[in-house]
Amino acid sequence: MAGRIPRQFIDTLIERSDIVEIVGTRVPLKKAGKEYTACCPFHDEKTPSFTISQAKQFYHCFGCGAHGNAVDFLMEYDRVGFIDAIEILSSLAGLEIPHEQFNHGGPDHRPLHQLLKTIGDWYRAQLRQSPTAIAYLKQRGLSGEISARFGLGHAPPGWDNLLRRFSGDERKLQALRDTGMIVEAEGKRYDRFRERIMFPIRDPRGRLIGFGGRLLGDGKPKYLNSPETPLFHKGRALYGLYEAHQALRHFDRLLVVEGYMDVVSLAQFGIDYAVATLGTAATPQHIELLFRHAPAICFCFDGDSAGRDAAWKALNNLLPLLKDGKEARFLFLPEGEDPDTLIRQEGRDAFEARVISAQPLSDYLFEHCAIGMDLHSADGQVRYAEQLRPLLDKLPAGLLRQMLYKRLDDLLGIQTPHPAGPRAQGTARRPGSRQNQPQGLNATRFAVALLLQNPRLGADPELATDWADSDIPGANLLLELLEQTREQPDISVAQLLERYRDTASEKTVRKLVAIPLGLPENADIAAELRGALQRLSDKARKARLRMRIRGGQAIRRE
Ligand code: UTP
Ligand code: MN
Repeated sequence: MAGRIPRQFIDTLIERSDIVEIVGTRVPLKKAGKEYTACCPFHDEKTPSFTISQAKQFYHCFGCGAHGNAVDFLMEYDRVGFIDAIEILSSLAGLEIPHEQFNHGGPDHRPLHQLLKTIGDWYRAQLRQSPTAIAYLKQRGLSGEISARFGLGHAPPGWDNLLRRFSGDERKLQALRDTGMIVEAEGKRYDRFRERIMFPIRDPRGRLIGFGGRLLGDGKPKYLNSPETPLFHKGRALYGLYEAHQALRHFDRLLVVEGYMDVVSLAQFGIDYAVATLGTAATPQHIELLFRHAPAICFCFDGDSAGRDAAWKALNNLLPLLKDGKEARFLFLPEGEDPDTLIRQEGRDAFEARVISAQPLSDYLFEHCAIGMDLHSADGQVRYAEQLRPLLDKLPAGLLRQMLYKRLDDLLGIQTPHPAGPRAQGTARRPGSRQNQPQGLNATRFAVALLLQNPRLGADPELATDWADSDIPGANLLLELLEQTREQPDISVAQLLERYRDTASEKTVRKLVAIPLGLPENADIAAELRGALQRLSDKARKARLRMRIRGGQAIRRE
């Protein structure tokens, strides 16, 4: 849901605004029956196909498809952002935007970012003055250019370099503590990072949030990271994401590797889309962040047992986040190799070929669960299905889940009963019958479109909802709409639309709110909605039946 302005306020704002007035002051309007029309301001036309419904507080152009509420119109026509559109509407309506809501809340971290930047610059200067550190990076095969691109530095030997630099400045000392750059233990304090190659870690906006430091030789710990601080959260940070964006504006995919060195080496060889988690398996927060930046992620694991464990953890975190349209692959490197060593041996093209042909998540899942199972025996098959099912259930409802369930069926050779074929008789168009459902819309989408376009229908107490916990794609959105409209039967189309701004469902909602349903003027739309929900309820009942057949009994029968 949009931003930090309370929904309640936006609701009120839309209620107090009149889209006819807002459009009317910008575009000449004509009244046509209950609606207003105009030549569409968003495309070139001679005959008006732009209509505004005062009742719905909604505009729609039948020519170019532009549509939306007052906020959308301002954003499109005045070319302003969401917040500005809200401000324009508020001032027209004489409402004040709740003030504290613009405050991001929480303390101001800018001094901490600034301190880390000062320290990072200092580490870089120290690197230039340290022949040993330079020699180490050379020996690791890193070019001066790539070290500079990642801002690598050197923390020189000594327990109190930073402490001395900032001594006497209480605020800076406190900031050193807050950013974890000094350690305080048993009444002593000292610099956390000493005699290490320093990797600055940035957030996606480029602000420094912490460091990783590597020993120049052997010893323990090989890497030391910033501790959890107000800026740095290991479970969320991705090393190299900012740098990747500096090199490439858009990625088709992101490659997730295990180490700092891997990211830097890969970039040196021209693979600019690698990022690393910092000594943890990918968390749900990592995965959400990754999918916000690319539709496809390839997780790369070193060829050792730690790598395999990390892969299985990542898979478990991935499943609930794999919405249709997102792709995840797994790349397992040969025993004893990591991306850094491998790309140096085989070069960019060979390495990239591995990434491109990496194992799809579904193959990995099906293969991993099959380990140690005898799929030729009926019992083995049952156990296999029992392992897989809870994992498949973690996937969000959608095509992928359906396909993987089908794959499981196919693998086990079960024929799930086919949903009842088309009913031939009774083609008369009773209100609510399937024939009234527009071509190309399934029952869920038809119901969503009906509700979006006529929110009042949600108040009908006779609507079936026993499909609600089914797998039917789109069921969640439909249920949510039903709840919203039941709670607030007077909600306008425009207000409903606003609730979906910047949500995962926004695209669907925008499409369905404007889709022509082809129903006659006097259609009984309440009956249509009841009919669509009844069809969903039948579908869910059949699906439950199929599930029961899948679980165990049908398999044993072979
Ligand atoms: P690796 O041990 O695989 O190191 O750790 P590496 O990336 O190959 O490093 P080089 O090539 O020896 O320099 C992978 C990641 O795990 C975290 C670091 O983030 C490291 O990049 N790690 C590892 C630690 O945090 N501490 C350690 O002591 C070791
Ligand atoms: Mn390595």
